[in-house]
Parts: sequence; C-alpha cells; structure tokens
Amino acid sequence: MSGTSKLVLENVSMTFEADGKPFTALAPVDLEIPAGKFISLIGPSGCGKSTIFNIVAGLQPPTTGRVLIDGEDATGLIGRVGYMLQKDLLLPWRTVLDNVALGMEIRGFKMSEARARALPLLARYGLGGFEHRYPGSLSGGMRQRAALLRTLLVDQDVVLLDEPFGALDAQTKARMQEWLLQLFNDFGRTVVFVTHDVEEAIFLSDEIYVMASRPGRVIEKLPIDLPRPRDRSVVSSPRFVAMKKYCLDLLHLASPDTHGDIAA
Ligand SMILES: Nc1ncnc2c1ncn2[C@@H]1O[C@H](COP(=O)(O)OP(=O)(O)O)[C@@H](O)[C@H]1O
Ligand SMILES: [Mg+2]
Repeated sequence: MSGTSKLVLENVSMTFEADGKPFTALAPVDLEIPAGKFISLIGPSGCGKSTIFNIVAGLQPPTTGRVLIDGEDATGLIGRVGYMLQKDLLLPWRTVLDNVALGMEIRGFKMSEARARALPLLARYGLGGFEHRYPGSLSGGMRQRAALLRTLLVDQDVVLLDEPFGALDAQTKARMQEWLLQLFNDFGRTVVFVTHDVEEAIFLSDEIYVMASRPGRVIEKLPIDLPRPRDRSVVSSPRFVAMKKYCLDLLHLASPDTHGDIAA
C-alpha cells in the first residue's frame, strides 16, 4: 500500500447466502486509487461493481478485508464518501434546486445556506432556468446533471458514481461525459466511476480496473495515458482504438458468455 493513495481496498471480498449456500459475489479485490484521479471499474453485469461501492460507502460490511481512506481504516464508516447510487432518484416533489441542495441539507446545512450554495452551480453547470422546475419535467440528461451535482455538493473528496449515464441515449451520454470531465477538472475530487461501456471508461479515466464475473474479481488494471483535456476526437485516435480493442478482448476472454452485456 502506498502512503499517498486516497482510497485503498485491501483483500476485500463479499460472500452472500443464496438458497442456503454461500455465493461469492466478490473474490478478494485489491484496489489502490491515487488522490485526484478518475478511475473506472468496468465489467459485465453481476461482477460485483455495485457491491464494491456499497462496501466503500460503508453500507455493507465486507466478508473479508478493509477499506482505507487517506491511510485510515474506514471499513463500515457511512458518510465518508459521496455516493451516487445506480438508481439514484431525484425526489419528484422537490424542485431541481431543492434536490441539489438535499445532500447538504442531510449533512446539517440550513436549507437557506444549502440553496445559496447550490444556486450559482446550477447556472454554471447547465441547469440555469431549470432551478424551480420539478424533475418530472426534465430530460434524462438534465436529471442526471442534478443528481451528480447533488452528490458533488456534499463536499466529500472521494466520489463514487455508479453507471450514471447507463440509461441515456448515445448523444446525450457523449455530452454528459464531456460535462462530467469539466466538473472533474473544476472540483478536483477523486472519482470512482462504474460503467459497462468500454469507450466511456477510456474516454473519462486515468486508470481502468477490468473485472470479470463468477466470481466477481479484478482481472487487470490499465493505465489510460491519453492527455487531458480530452475532447471527443480522441476516440478515433489509434491509441484509443487499440486500448478499446484490448479491453474488449480481455472482457470477452474472461466472461465469454456475458460478452453481450458489454457495450462496444
Ligand atoms: N444483498 C445481496 N444478497 C445476495 N446476492 C447479492 C446481493 N447483492 C448483490 N448480490 C449478487 O452479487 C453479484 C454482484 O452484484 P452487483 O455488485 O450488483 O453487480 P454489478 O453492479 O457488477 O452488476 C450479483 O450476482 C448479485 O445478484
Ligand atoms: Mg451495479
């Protein structure tokens, strides 16, 4: 373990009971995530990505191993990271502004103060004019912007994002990725991002952990040394195309029967 790592998982595994028998959702996993980097976990459905996040967020005790944040044992500690769940919903009866302010409110800010902090960010990050609208009247991309801003505004330096763009159409998704890179640049957080989209993982990340299923495990850690800032044209560069092929081959070799789950 390196002293400069923001987030470390040491020998973390998860075994559930299924039909009275133990089921290994996650074989022992070691992750080492440097401060200020954008890291993706990629793998087929069911390989334990959300389980890793639930463990890091302190919502599920691991069967073995520990979670370290800034070198200190944070296993089972709730509230130490920002976490946008895979199906993170906005509250339909709250306006966009009050949804974005919610994370701060839960952490004890006065509502007026939470709103005052959220308001300029809504305008800056593409939600200007929508502050007082309700989530039901927003597009999917707008809703995800609001949910992501809510997560970032809780002021944790580690942010976990579980497939935030999984349900968006290709064009909206591409715009949201660029928007997220701008936020990453502005906020300076350590981001761990889950996706099953190889191109998305490469475009966004500094490093990718490739996972496989049955049992869920990490099979490779890939550095992505594409220069930043990145724009969309990078996806057709020979380096990008080669990394994408390498990644898809790895996923296919590890879980040939689940290949169809991975978005090329
Ligand atoms: N609370 C639970 N009890 C039993 N099995 C679970 C539980 N949570 C997740 N699993 C199983 O563990 C595996 C990994 O799940 P998950 O982490 O959600 O995968 P992913 O996010 O990669 O799709 C799946 O087979 C899932 O059905
Ligand atoms: Mg999941």
